[in-house]
Parts: sequence; C-alpha cells; structure tokens
Amino acid sequence: MPMDNPKAYFESKFECADPWNFATSEYELKKYERQVALIEDRTETVDRILEIGCAEGVHSRMLLEAFPQATLLGIELSDTAAETARSRLPNDRAEIVSADAIDYLSDVTGDFDTVVWSETIYYMADRMTGPDLYEYVETLFGLLRPDGVLVMANFPDQTDAPEKRLTRPALMDAYRRVLSGVGTQVHRSQHTAQKVESNATYTYEIRAFEP
Ligand SMILES: C[S@@+](CC[C@H](N)C(=O)[O-])C[C@H]1O[C@@H](n2cnc3c(N)ncnc32)[C@H](O)[C@@H]1O
Repeated sequence: MPMDNPKAYFESKFECADPWNFATSEYELKKYERQVALIEDRTETVDRILEIGCAEGVHSRMLLEAFPQATLLGIELSDTAAETARSRLPNDRAEIVSADAIDYLSDVTGDFDTVVWSETIYYMADRMTGPDLYEYVETLFGLLRPDGVLVMANFPDQTDAPEKRLTRPALMDAYRRVLSGVGTQVHRSQHTAQKVESNATYTYEIRAFEP
C-alpha cells in the first residue's frame, strides 16, 4: 500500500523547523555541496533551475549562491516548508510553489538547464505505477535543455519507517534504471559519512543524468 497521506506526513514533519537538520548538519551541507560541484562540472551556464521537493530551501539557497545569474522554481508538497523556503530565498530569483510535484509538473514549462531532485523520488514513486514514473521522467527530461543535467542524491536502504519500505536497494535500482532508460547516466558516486545529529553513519549516492 502506498504511504498514507504523504502531505499530512510532511506537514507534521515540518511542524518542527528543520526536521532533518538540513540547515546545520555538516553531513547534509556536504551532500548539497557535492551536487553543486557536479552541476558546475557538467554545465556551461546555469540560468534556470527546477528543484523538486525543495523542503525549506536550504539547498535552493546554496544553488542560488553558487549560480548568481540563475533563477529557481521549487515545488514543495508541504505548505509550511514552502513558506519557510520563501522566507529564506530572494523573491526576485526564486519562485516556490506549494504543490504536489506529481500533478504540478504538467503546469511547468521549459527550458531548464538544471533539475535537482534529491531525496524525494522514492516518496513520489510510491504513488506512481512503473509506467507513470517512466512518463514522469520523460516529462522531466522534456523540460531540460539538450545540454542540461538532472542531479540527485539519495540514501538507499534507510531503517526508519516509512522510508525503510521506500528505499530498498532493489527499488532504488529500479528508479535508476528508469532514469537511465529515458536519459543517460553521466555520474555516480557513493559517499559514506557520519551524521553527528543522528549519531550514525550513512552511505548516500549522487547521480547525474543528461537527456
Ligand atoms: C527528505 S526531504 C528532501 C529535501 C531536499 N530535496 C534535500 O535533498 O535535502 C523530501 C522533501 O520532498 C517533499 N516532497 C515529497 N513528495 C513530494 C511531492 N509529491 N511533491 C513535492 N514535494 C514533495 C517533502 O515535503 C520534503 O520536503
């Protein structure tokens, strides 16, 4: 069964600000920095960024600082997190839409040179059939310029509910196959680091795909 009421789940998470320590955790900030560096490597210029599941806008702010000419469209399911993201970001460069990115994507028009879709695909794929996910990824790549890049970080094999069910390595591999089936994987790296706030060591992957 898909996760029951994901919007309510994320709203309750964000009742308490920064539930995953995105703004303060060395582990999270390094994960964002690695994605920024990858975008710098793979793209000539970054003018327009689409971020799916932008949470409270911590990564978004780092992206806008790294690419000072860029604007960003963030789509975030939680109204509370979206509001925090708006207050964190310059409103002349960032538009944060509070919406379900599964439905909202059809309202988005291209040309983006960067899509960031981090730690969010597994929540969304839970609510799609395989063919739905394939078509969603096709739509996403359709919004990217031919020389654009889609970047994501994901932490497979999580142990807490509901993520445990959603991040099984075989499922994460299936999502990777869908992305590689529509686009081309151009980067994969794996990083193991301690998250002091959780007193645990985690391994996450960073991947990049091009249309
Ligand atoms: C684990 S957080 C990751 C946040 C950020 N992308 C990062 O890498 O730090 C997942 C975020 O995705 C959002 N999210 C989940 N499903 C979504 C959907 N269908 N549409 C938009 N946002 C969604 C959640 O509300 C949450 O803010």
